[in-house]
Amino acid sequence: MRITLIGCGYVGLVTGACFAELGHEVVCTDSDRERIAKLKAGSVPIYEPYLDNLLSANCRARRLSFTDDAGEAVRAGDIIFICVGTPPLETGDADLSAIDSVARLIALEAQTPKLVVEKSTVPAQTGQQLKRALGLYRGGNGVQFRVASNPEFLREGTAVQDFLHPDRIVVGVEDQGTESVLREIYRPILEGKFRCPMHTTGCLDARSVELVITTINSAELIKHASNSFLAMKISYANVIADLCEKVDADIHEVTRAMGMDPRIGAAFLNAGLGFGGYCLPKDVQAFIRLAERCGVDAGLLREIERVNKRRVDQFFEKVGQGLWVVKGKRVGLLGLAFKPNTDDIRFAPSLEVVRRLIADGAQVCAYDEQAMGKFSAVFPEVVCQQSPYEVADGADALLVLTESPEFSQLDWGRIYKMMARPLVIDGRNLLDPASMNEIGFEYYGFGCRRQSSAPTPMPAYAAEADVGVRQVSLPS
Ligand code: UGA
Repeated sequence: MRITLIGCGYVGLVTGACFAELGHEVVCTDSDRERIAKLKAGSVPIYEPYLDNLLSANCRARRLSFTDDAGEAVRAGDIIFICVGTPPLETGDADLSAIDSVARLIALEAQTPKLVVEKSTVPAQTGQQLKRALGLYRGGNGVQFRVASNPEFLREGTAVQDFLHPDRIVVGVEDQGTESVLREIYRPILEGKFRCPMHTTGCLDARSVELVITTINSAELIKHASNSFLAMKISYANVIADLCEKVDADIHEVTRAMGMDPRIGAAFLNAGLGFGGYCLPKDVQAFIRLAERCGVDAGLLREIERVNKRRVDQFFEKVGQGLWVVKGKRVGLLGLAFKPNTDDIRFAPSLEVVRRLIADGAQVCAYDEQAMGKFSAVFPEVVCQQSPYEVADGADALLVLTESPEFSQLDWGRIYKMMARPLVIDGRNLLDPASMNEIGFEYYGFGCRRQSSAPTPMPAYAAEADVGVRQVSLPS
């Protein structure tokens, strides 16, 4: 199949690379010429596991190419996937102007019939508007367009895995012909018949996958409803964590037992700093706006957002409890990205944490193997170190902001000896409180039982003496 992809963000790049890997002929374009120039030169603008190799292998095999000539790209494909961004407007609505521009582009440049597929996350009924726009913009030329929706369920950091081994593939269509085309595109995945570039000795979870056929409106709604449900689970777990702290219960014990019920499920019940990133926060907002516009009670959805927005406040209560005075303290951050295995810091809780630490007068240094480059561009004043140990050296507190397994495997005994004060505030409940206390750390997580000797506010040196400070720097 000849496929065109418009939009080379992580969804477009992963989709393009994976379609090519399945044997399709794929052309990708983007309005950002610099991005296309870099991709043509073999440089990948984002960090996503396996993506580099997939892109280079498929470019070499001539199944995948990049062009900044959008008209040429439109003419090259029979099926056009729209993968452009739909960022949040100030109102919380999704900004659909990029979809509108792409509709105009396709209508003006197409010379043969096209199947236009929305992959970007859009509110329900966008497909109808897209169809209307394609008809209007094409003017007098009689090119036929069909429209479909094919939402993506790719998590950053595991996007290639999610694409090739999905839980389901959803396609919203209006006719049998479109369903057949999309079924054909995904056939290797649906039947589990492709050479998996991730698992060269055989995939552990090789299985057939269901192609879920729906209307276009339902497909669009499935995406927003899924992301909002995931966000709801996280906010729910966070409320339970707050309650655990009040009644001296343990969030790990509670969510573990809850998750054993298959009606609830164990995933997405990790309490902490809450959800960030370019998907969940904006999708919940857009879903709220959709419900409001339709006159449907959006109270439940609004509460998800409200709980999430308070997480950084709650984190800072713990910072205040542990550090007492933040001004002049050396604070090390472990993790900056909104989640592990990505360099994406968009809407990451770390941004707000750093803003507040700087405003409070802390000296901040940080480590995140993937995200440090992008982070430094936003906060040049934060010193980024090459290893977690360098961040820990001489620190008055370490704050864990990303649930990276790398941090749970650190030599915490070594870190204990390096820090000026052995204080860890774990925004992702990544570490085991009992083990941390055993080493000697003053440890704070979310919803953990009261194991640490958390001091009630008191004069600085008395409080520090309580928790075993070995090095006190007097203010100059
Ligand atoms: C999310 C969805 O999970 C994907 O299915 C969807 O395709 C994607 O959005 C999208 O719309 O494109 P993603 O944003 O990559 O994927 O990240 P998630 O794994 O959903 O994590 C989002 C945030 O929630 C992270 O900040 C993570 O730290 C946080 N989180 C996750 C928790 O706080 N607790 C949890 O239990 C799980």
